[in-house]
Amino acid sequence: MSTLVVVGTQWGDEGKGKVVDLLAERADVIVRFQGGNNAGHTLLVDGKKFICHLIPSGILHGNKVCLIGNGVVFDPSVFIKEIEELSSRGITVDPERLRLSSNAHLIMPYHKALDHAIENARPEGKKLGTTGRGIGPCYEDKIARNGIKVGDLLDLDLFREKLRYNVREKNFILTQRLNAEPLVVRDIFREFREYARRLAPFVDDVSILIDEALRNGKSLLFEGAQGTQLDIDHGTYPYVTSSNTVAGAACCGAGIGPSKIDKVIGICKAYTTRVGGGPFPTELADTLGDYLQKKGAEFGATTGRRRRCGWLDGVVLRDAVRINGLDGLAITKLDVLSGIDPLNICTEYEFSGTRHLHMPSNIWAVEAIWPIYETLPGWHEDLSQIRSLEDLPKEARDYLKAIEEIAGIPIVLISVGPAREQTVFLRDPFD
Ligand code: GDP
Ligand code: IMO
Ligand code: MG
Repeated sequence: MSTLVVVGTQWGDEGKGKVVDLLAERADVIVRFQGGNNAGHTLLVDGKKFICHLIPSGILHGNKVCLIGNGVVFDPSVFIKEIEELSSRGITVDPERLRLSSNAHLIMPYHKALDHAIENARPEGKKLGTTGRGIGPCYEDKIARNGIKVGDLLDLDLFREKLRYNVREKNFILTQRLNAEPLVVRDIFREFREYARRLAPFVDDVSILIDEALRNGKSLLFEGAQGTQLDIDHGTYPYVTSSNTVAGAACCGAGIGPSKIDKVIGICKAYTTRVGGGPFPTELADTLGDYLQKKGAEFGATTGRRRRCGWLDGVVLRDAVRINGLDGLAITKLDVLSGIDPLNICTEYEFSGTRHLHMPSNIWAVEAIWPIYETLPGWHEDLSQIRSLEDLPKEARDYLKAIEEIAGIPIVLISVGPAREQTVFLRDPFD
């Protein structure tokens, strides 16, 4: 029995989907604990590509149980679409192997309308570049204690009462403050009554299911979404998402105590990307950045936006090791760096005339960072077929060694391509 939390160490899109799908082989239960369908986790299995937005990335393993925890914000239309898409591709998803917390909060149509209208109202240069999926407004309602939970759908009178109150409040803001269209209670109620019927068999108490699994000696894998620098508390605020994305969130977002977590693994892309607004100290706004973007196929898996690309940021990595209590790292997309020579890794930041080892909390200071780089020789060999550390070029091994030195923790696996088999295993991540 063991429990492993997997989180992103950067600004998301580190390759969590690939790694979770891979590690799910060793787990019995796979759990999402925060975020919503702002996430886009890509799996490539037997040449077929799947993108999980809401359903845990263990779903392709027919004999595993996938759970969506209370910390997730849940859009029923996306959930149903994802199930239908999987089933059209021959993967049956039934309540036997997928359950949903009754305490997860529902993303409502007014959350999406507000997300768009608020973003539109922000002046140029101050836009967050949200995914427009209603994530921020949904978490706002949860914290303000106005949210509607998945479980409320099982009592349609309660649901209707909460819906009426919310639509009245939100229509006022939408029409009077944001110059947007109002929403109609009756339309939303009809839509959600149908969702209630579809969702009911999946609704359960995820915390109890996790407890039962632990008591039965099962192994659990907790799948983070977004990344450490998008965390609402620890990221580059306000250019963050609206949830805690760090490993600690697995406890609150799934209903498991911290003493029951055995290991935490951080996924770190061999370079850095960011999609959406906000500061990015090691960004390459030049032809090399374009090269990484093309070679790494860096397009958002949710919105299709071009991802901004830059050098690996050791300061971000160091912070991720501390904040998440990482035990090990999975380095992804090492193959993409072939042909770039030399390579830079940022080891420190300079701002306000001094050197710093950590990300500042003041956003103006983050925007003024001057990255300090260590330069290493690159390599030119194609890495996509490599399956052992010894077969990697010496320069690639030195690059990995430099990462381990900055992080102060071992690398447990290296990914050299999007497919499951394009992986070099160094240590057992569960051990
Ligand atoms: P996630 O949000 O962290 O799950 O990451 P995404 O799925 O949004 O983005 C990662 C992208 O890189 C996906 O298109 C993956 O198929 C791809 N990918 C994952 N690992 C590797 C790798 O080692 N090499 C290459 N070339 N692509 C990878
Ligand atoms: P995965 O799980 C990358 C970014 C958005 C925006 C900010 C706020 O695939 O790594 P939101 O819609 O959450 O309010 O947007 O967060 N963002 C992500 N960036 N990967 C993600 O998820 C992201 N989820 C949100 O681009 O900058
Ligand atoms: Mg993604």
